[in-house]
Amino acid sequence: MEIKLNKVKKYVKSILMFETTGHDFYHAKRVMNNAVQISKNMDIDLNIVRIAALTHDLIDKKVTSDIMKSINDLEKTLFEIGYPNNDVVTVIHIIKNISYSKGSIPDSLEGKIVQDADRLDAIGAIGIARTFAYGGKNNRMIYNPESKDGLDSVSHFYDKLLKLKDLMNTKEARKIAEKRTAYMVDFLNKFYLEWEGKDL
Ligand code: NI
Repeated sequence: MEIKLNKVKKYVKSILMFETTGHDFYHAKRVMNNAVQISKNMDIDLNIVRIAALTHDLIDKKVTSDIMKSINDLEKTLFEIGYPNNDVVTVIHIIKNISYSKGSIPDSLEGKIVQDADRLDAIGAIGIARTFAYGGKNNRMIYNPESKDGLDSVSHFYDKLLKLKDLMNTKEARKIAEKRTAYMVDFLNKFYLEWEGKDL
C-alpha cells in the first residue's frame, strides 16, 4: 500500500511542486495529513481518502487549463500504479465533487472527509499565507478599504474563509476549524490596528 501511495505522491509532486497560488504539492500533503487525522476511528476506506486528498487539486481549474485531460492523465496514472478500477472510479468521483465553488456536499463519508481536510488548509495561519499568495498571483490587492467589488484579499476572509467552520461535514474538522478561525479573527483585528497605525 505504501509503495503505491509513494508513486501517487511522486506524480502529484511532478505536477504541483512549483505551483505558486497555494495549491502546491505541500498543500496536497497537508490535506492528506488533515484527512488522516479527521478520519481516525472512523469506519472508512483510508486508502481512498489518502489518494483523493493527494490528487484533489490536479483536476481543479485553478491548477489546470484542461480539466478533461487532467482527469484522463490521473486515471491512466492510477491504473499504471496498479489501483483497481473500483478505486480509481471512486477517487475521481470524490475529487470531482469537493471544490468550494461547486458548493456541493460529497455523497460519501470519504468525500466529506477530504472536503473538510481541504477546507482546513484554507484557514488558520496557512490559510492566511495561501490567501495572500493566491491574491497576488491573481492581481488582487492586499486590502482596499474603498473596494466595492470585494476583490481584494482581505475581502476573501469574509466572503469565504470565516464561513468555512460552519460548513464542515465532520465534527472533528469543525473543532479544528474553530481554533483556526479564532486565529484568523485575531489576525484581522491586528491587521486593521496596524493599517490605522493604532498600535503605535
Ligand atoms: Ni485544495
